[in-house]
Amino acid sequence: SRTAAVIPAAGRGVRLGPGAPKALRALNGTPMLIHAVRAMAASRSVSLVVVVAPPDETSAAEVKTLLADHALPERTDFVVVPGGETRQESVKLGLDALPPGIDVVLVHDAARPLVPVDTVDGVIEAVREGAPAVVPALPLADTVKQVEARTDGGPELVVATPERARLRAVQTPQGFDRATLVRAHETVTDNVTDDAGMVEQLGVPVVVVPGHEEAFKVTRPLDLVLAEAVLARRRA
Ligand code: C5P
Repeated sequence: SRTAAVIPAAGRGVRLGPGAPKALRALNGTPMLIHAVRAMAASRSVSLVVVVAPPDETSAAEVKTLLADHALPERTDFVVVPGGETRQESVKLGLDALPPGIDVVLVHDAARPLVPVDTVDGVIEAVREGAPAVVPALPLADTVKQVEARTDGGPELVVATPERARLRAVQTPQGFDRATLVRAHETVTDNVTDDAGMVEQLGVPVVVVPGHEEAFKVTRPLDLVLAEAVLARRRA
């Protein structure tokens, strides 16, 4: 069984503030995307990494140069394809680039540059053991409320409080049997925020494996501070 990782990296990263596309922002001098690529290639099971670059031609060329300029494991192949308007479209374009012979696919956000290899291997192993879809996840620290906007423009109202113990914060890489993920991308058109959400809509079971706190998503400026602190701790 051969495993590939698709890394959607076509987002603009507006919540991070002004500057370069998020995936190209540096963490301790190295672009976030390179950290994410290395995190996938760190798994001995991953033989191919497909990076989905921003849709314009310059960005794809830039990403190719970036990969060529950084040391990456020789046993892994790297491919760059242009992305789409939405994350979903970008992942689909990444899937279209997979060669025959790949039967396990990971989808990993470039915005989670520090996921440890044990988490990656745990996801792959669960798919190889027969789960069609696998998500790494952690319990929540915060209580989560469901809210509703008010028609008069006043502050939003709380409408429900889901039981915290049953909620999980879902990370990436998410792992899939290739055929299942391709079918999900061909059939599900609703907008979802992760790939497992599409597979759920097919009625296919999605299993949960332990996530890792270092697999957090770099979204806001404070996350950059945390990411650099994690890297500094690894080097210490
Ligand atoms: O916006 P969000 O943080 O959910 O993005 C998750 C990942 O999806 C990021 O790695 C981002 O670069 C990617 N993305 C993409 N194509 C888009 C939008 C987001 O590849 N059109």
